[in-house]
Amino acid sequence: MSVTCVFGMQWGDEGKGRVVDLLAAQSDIVVRYQGGANAGHTVVVGEERYVLHLLPSGAIQPRTLNVIGNGVVVDPWTLVREVDELEARGVRIQGRLKVSDRAHVVLPYHKRMDVALETLRGADALGTTSRGIGPAYGDKMRRAGLRTADLLKPGRFEPLLRGNLAAWNAILDRAGLEPVDVAAEVAAMTEIAGRLRPLVADTTALLGDAWRAGRRILLEGAQGFALDVDHGSYPYVTSSSTGPSGVSAGTGLPPRALDRVVGIVKAYTTRVGAGPFPTLDTGLAGRHMAQRGHEFGATTGRPRACGWFDGVVARRAVATQGVDAAALMKLDVLSGLPELQVCVAYELDGRRLDAPPAWAGDWETCRPVYETWPGWEEDLGAVRRFEDLPAAARRYVRALQDLMGTRVEMISVGAERERFIALPGGVPDEVAA
Ligand code: IMO
Ligand code: MG
Repeated sequence: MSVTCVFGMQWGDEGKGRVVDLLAAQSDIVVRYQGGANAGHTVVVGEERYVLHLLPSGAIQPRTLNVIGNGVVVDPWTLVREVDELEARGVRIQGRLKVSDRAHVVLPYHKRMDVALETLRGADALGTTSRGIGPAYGDKMRRAGLRTADLLKPGRFEPLLRGNLAAWNAILDRAGLEPVDVAAEVAAMTEIAGRLRPLVADTTALLGDAWRAGRRILLEGAQGFALDVDHGSYPYVTSSSTGPSGVSAGTGLPPRALDRVVGIVKAYTTRVGAGPFPTLDTGLAGRHMAQRGHEFGATTGRPRACGWFDGVVARRAVATQGVDAAALMKLDVLSGLPELQVCVAYELDGRRLDAPPAWAGDWETCRPVYETWPGWEEDLGAVRRFEDLPAAARRYVRALQDLMGTRVEMISVGAERERFIALPGGVPDEVAA
């Protein structure tokens, strides 16, 4: 299959970077199509641990071309730092990176605005990553954004910036924050533009040509389905279309270019930031997941809240995004829990719901309907074949596969590249749930 999309099916942090790194070994081009530096994708190679925020996780593989598509909001300073850091660690990026000339730019003022808007929301704050994502997409959608193409034309970005800041400075003032100094912002942009210039290209044309030539293209989603601006727990979401539905808009590839969609899902659920989380477990099990799974945000370092597998969310992701196969991550983390709960539906005001409710307030008060599965004691780190998993683990995976309605074709049992079980065709039928 030549064009594959990998995306998260929960609230982010599913392990997308790890799967992208694996699949990138058989890809020519790896592409980010949405989100920005709010992402934190971790790839572990031997003793080395890489955390990528803007570069596609495929960058760690030596031969891929890496593309940041038009749908991404690019913080040029973060991008340049990431490139420099990887180069310093011996990962060659120069000559292997292209940034869309249509991608919108995240400026320092967007980050200040992100903080200001959160402050003004008070108790209703979303818990954003403070990376300027909402304000940058906001400027884009109200047609006042700055794109990388503008950044390269000095006469172009200054008036745009002045126009925007006139309005934003009033809001910063209300939040008790310093106004943005236009001259300083212009100077900073002029400086960074020089670094960006050699990277900027018409990536739409580049990707279209590559697709028609049959090159292998891997599309890397950031965040996850439940954070999708349309399908997620709005307003406790990010500002982009996180799944394959965002690929065409965010790259210029036609929707029918996609050959295969791989949904990434953790064997339990985590969340950072505010908003609904019906399967949250604040007891022993949640602490077990947090500790064994090292559940701390790769971008902000915030502890991730942990809980049981939410089948309502995963099923909705499969149904709306057209998933061909699922990769089930961090199964090893569940070892040692005597019993595992799996949320098969929600209950709201005495009614059973098979899909998440539209209103976040309802979603927040939903009670999970659980099925209970026996756990297992064995450490899974050394298991490389599905048959070698403990029977209880095989049944658990089967139950999740049935619940999601898509085949589980990969299982991760540890952070290192090789700690992986390949399962072409999914869990066989003879494994009873
Ligand atoms: P990866 O790609 C987990 C969450 C934030 C907040 C909400 C809005 O590593 O899975 P934003 O800064 O996007 O405006 O924040 O979205 N969030 C993520 N949570 N993983 C991510 O990325 C996230 N990116 C944003 O915590 O709740
Ligand atoms: Mg992350």
